[in-house]
This record gives sequence, C-alpha cells and structure tokens, in this order.
Amino acid sequence: MEQSAEGVKRVFLETFGCQMNDNDSERILGFLKNINYTRTSKPTDADLIILNTCSVRDKAEQKVYSALGRFKELKEERPGLILGVAGCVAQQEGKKLLKRAPYLDLVFGPQNIHRLPDLIGEISKKRGRLVAVEQSESIDENEYGLLSAADGRAFVSIMRGCDNFCAYCIVPYTRGREVSRRSADIIGEVSRLAEGGVKEVTLLGQNVNSYGAGGAEVSFPELLRLVARIDGIRRVRFITSHPKDISVGLIRLFGEEPKLARHIHLPVQSGSDRVLKAMGRGYTASHYSSKVRLIKNLHPDISVTTDIIVGFPGETEDEFEETIALLRDLRFDNIFSFMYSPRPLTKAAAFTGHVPADVRSKRLQRLQDAQRCITLERSRELVGRRVEVLLEGASTAPGEREFSGRTSCNRIVRFPYEGVLPDSIVEVVVTEAYPNSLRAEFPPQGK
Ligand code: 5AD
Ligand code: SF4
Repeated sequence: MEQSAEGVKRVFLETFGCQMNDNDSERILGFLKNINYTRTSKPTDADLIILNTCSVRDKAEQKVYSALGRFKELKEERPGLILGVAGCVAQQEGKKLLKRAPYLDLVFGPQNIHRLPDLIGEISKKRGRLVAVEQSESIDENEYGLLSAADGRAFVSIMRGCDNFCAYCIVPYTRGREVSRRSADIIGEVSRLAEGGVKEVTLLGQNVNSYGAGGAEVSFPELLRLVARIDGIRRVRFITSHPKDISVGLIRLFGEEPKLARHIHLPVQSGSDRVLKAMGRGYTASHYSSKVRLIKNLHPDISVTTDIIVGFPGETEDEFEETIALLRDLRFDNIFSFMYSPRPLTKAAAFTGHVPADVRSKRLQRLQDAQRCITLERSRELVGRRVEVLLEGASTAPGEREFSGRTSCNRIVRFPYEGVLPDSIVEVVVTEAYPNSLRAEFPPQGK
C-alpha cells in the first residue's frame, strides 16, 4: 500500500442500489471529507472500506455478502483497516451482520450517516465493533447539506422513508417512516449547489407527491416552482411519484414551468387489478391508465417510464397478460422490470401461491422483449425533432470530438462537433435512434 499524505486517509466506497443510495454515498463522502478522508478507487489503498448496500431484492442483498467476502482477506492482511456496511442491508440486519462477518467493524443505517465521524473515531480508539441503526421520527438537518456539485447535476433528498407499506416492499422497514425536510432547507441546499455550478437538480423521495403531508408549509408542486426559480438551475427532475398521489396540479405544472424536465417516472407494478389490490397499491389499472392519458393529452412530449414486478404471489398467466396489454396500450418510453423477490418482514412473504422461479424468469423475459420494441419505436418518433440537451461530457476519439448529454425527457444523446459549444444547454436535431441512446446533429440544420 502507498503511504497516505500526512493526516490524509483514504476511503474506498462501493454503492449498490438506487439513487437514494447514490445520494447517501455523496453524504457519506461529505462527512468523511470533514475528517480528512479522500476517496480512492483501489480497496488495497484504503484505510476505510464502506459498502453502501441495497436490500430491495434478494439478489442485491447477496451481492453485498459476496463483496464482503472479497474484503475479508484484505482485513486479515491489514488489521488497521476499518470495514463498514451502510445502507438498507445494514438497517435490516443490524448486529446480525457482525455475527455473519466477524471481521466487520461497523454497521450503520441510512439515518445514522451524520454520526459517521464519531463512529470512526470510536473504532480508531479500539472501542470495539459498532452498530448504529437507530431510527427517529424527525429529520435532523445536520444529516443533510453536504453535497458537492460533481458534474453539473445533483440529487437532493426532500424527504425520507415511506408510509405506504406495499406488500412486497422492504423500504418502509429499512428507511423508516415518511418525514419531509423543510422547504427552506431544501431551497438553501439547491441554492448552494447552483452557486457551485449545478444546472440540473433531481428531487428525491420514495413518494414525492406526498411531500409535506402531515403539515409542511408548501405542497410538492409549490416546492418544484420554488426550486425552478433558483438562479442557475436550468432543469428540475423528481423521482419517484406514486400513482395514487399524483395530482392534477402537478400534471398542469408541466405546462406552466419550462424548467420542469419532460419526464415522469410513475411505477405501475402490475396491469392486473387483483394483483394491484394484493400489493396494496391503492389504484386500479384503469385509474392508472387514465392518469397517464391525462399527462399525454395535456403534454404529448412528456416521456413516461414505469416499474413492473412480475411473478407476484398468485399471479396467473392471464394476470401477467394484463400487464403486457397495459404496456402495449400505454407505450411507456422505458420500463424497469423485476422478478418478484420475497423480502423479510413484508406481508407478501407470507402469501401463498409463490410463482416458481423459472416461470418468473420466463415472464420477465417476455415482458422485456415486448418493451424493447416499444422503447425503440418511441425513440424513433424523436428522429427529426429539435431537442434541448444538457451536456454531461465530451469524448475525443481520434478524428471526432463527440459531446454527450441528456434530453429533457431523459434520453442520452450523442453528437459530433469540433468547435466550442455556446452553452451547457444546446438545441440539437435527432438524426438516429438506438435502443439506449440517440444520435443528433449540432448546430441543427434547417429543421
Ligand atoms: N421484488 C421485486 N421488485 C421489487 N421492487 C420493490 N420491492 C421488490 C421486491 N420485493 C421494485 C418495485 C419498485 C422498484 C424500486 O423495485 O418495482 O418500484
Ligand atoms: Fe416501497 Fe411502496 Fe413505499 Fe415505493 S411506495 S418505497 S414500493 S412501500
């Protein structure tokens, strides 16, 4: 191992799972920076290794255990190395993790990130192995506010936890009860990020449409307006919306607030009313479809994406077909699809009629095959259109300088250009559609 510079220590951080975890990892790095840690991409150089984990599906959880196994040897070679597990597996398993991995020093849940400097201090003083998984009913602002402006885009948590308890989902257990941050604190954080060069901000919550439920001073659409008004912010995104809570006010806002990105992620989970009821989602397939139609009628350029679970307990072939029919009917721009995975503590884990793994896997395949064509068709509809791209990067392959960025509807676009671009947002014309990206022309020629 190379010697660290005087007083500076190195952390290797690996993140699993969703954007909420990416955001938590940023906060972990922020707190560690305050106690002189810099990030390293090599575990062999690290004084501290943290795995920020996900437990939403069993596969994600198993990845963590195999990653832990990889670091066991390193820890044996260098007993001074501190090894920690953060995130949802940490919250779910708590001190059981210490038993399972006797070489582990620290287990801390998503609500204990701000305690990290103290926890590391304790461990360095050889005060033993620690578990910090307490959950509280309120938000302590010290937990936030340490994000840095990495590449012009930032994710900001506006709330934490979830009260929905969908029958399959472990999130309400790992992330606790739903609590919203104060709007003034959110505005303060986004303003600081904008001063640091952030142009696009994504507001994060498990169910953003219920932001402020239980007494915040502004509604979610009002919060979006306030964030969009901040100097320097050019685009505002948000995830995730819950179909039962999305309001007409929010849908209208797309017509009033030009900085609001033209994309909405609205997880449907299933096209069968019986399955939706068993999942405890609080809407029917036709209720969901009518919301999507309203969005598309009012704003035809908005892209709608969704999440789907196949093989929920008791799902019949006909019920699965209803999900495929819903896809074909609503023609989502993209979907994120998963095989149902039983999770500890959840209601569905105790349901009867578990669908065999091979059936789940075949259904997933069929669903993804059906969607692949729809995604490509939706992309092809963009060919010839003028779209705004917020730049993310440039690559210099021999003989061709290529820029890349995202459209407002969240598609990746690449276009060649040799000159200096006039702004970080440019208009291009889409020339070709591929399954996962678009090719475009800049400057747009006569279209
Ligand atoms: N099994 C499979 N998929 C799940 N999701 C959440 N819990 C489970 C589970 N137990 C999916 C849902 C959710 C997305 C983030 O993960 O589709 O919207
Ligand atoms: Fe999980 Fe349902 Fe909450 Fe989403 S709304 S985090 S699926 S419990």
